[in-house]
Amino acid sequence: MLSNELLFPCVEGWLIPEERRILMMAGVAVDSQDGVIVEIGSYRGLSSLCIAAGIHQNPTKPLFYSIDPHDGLGVTNQKYGLNDLTQCYRNFGHYSTFGQYINKLTTYSMTAARMFDDEEVALLFIDGDHSELGVTEDLNAWLQKVVIGGGIFFHDWELESVRAAAGKFSKVLRAEESDPSAPNLQLFTRIAWS
Ligand SMILES: C[S@@+](CC[C@H](N)C(=O)[O-])C[C@H]1O[C@@H](n2cnc3c(N)ncnc32)[C@H](O)[C@@H]1O
Repeated sequence: MLSNELLFPCVEGWLIPEERRILMMAGVAVDSQDGVIVEIGSYRGLSSLCIAAGIHQNPTKPLFYSIDPHDGLGVTNQKYGLNDLTQCYRNFGHYSTFGQYINKLTTYSMTAARMFDDEEVALLFIDGDHSELGVTEDLNAWLQKVVIGGGIFFHDWELESVRAAAGKFSKVLRAEESDPSAPNLQLFTRIAWS
């Protein structure tokens, strides 16, 4: 899994090879003592499996939750649906070595946030509703759940809506240097209010 082979080539999704590798390395890097890993937006499980492939190599084995309502309604504009949930479970089963680490929460990100304590999350990956309102709501619901010093990845960073939402939280987020080969994946660190 650490070689140059493409991770999970048969799983549908929008992650370029470098993004898959970065998410896997993030799964390797999180120490379970620092908190859990949360992903907003499972779709068919590609990013989930990449993170889980990292957890597989991580001796501390942090807990990992992947959230998606798979409703095909409202904000998701009928683009996504229950067929994704079915395919997601198929993919987790097919790659069960890694799928075993993924706890699926089939609900909205804001609903799921209520199940977590403040500062319980060491790493948050935001790839759900990409509208400015959607990302703003995700950050409002989840930011305090992330430990100070914890990581927050945004996918689709090229979208103005995602950047605008993140910009509203500039006092509590510090941008980390992004990998030039994966500019669409932006990492921030949660910082304390100054
Ligand atoms: C771009 S896809 C995620 C892709 C996935 N992370 C991957 O890399 O394979 C966006 C997903 O976010 C989900 N979504 C939309 N709104 C959401 C919300 N409020 N909470 C959680 N997930 C949401 C959609 O149902 C869809 O499956």
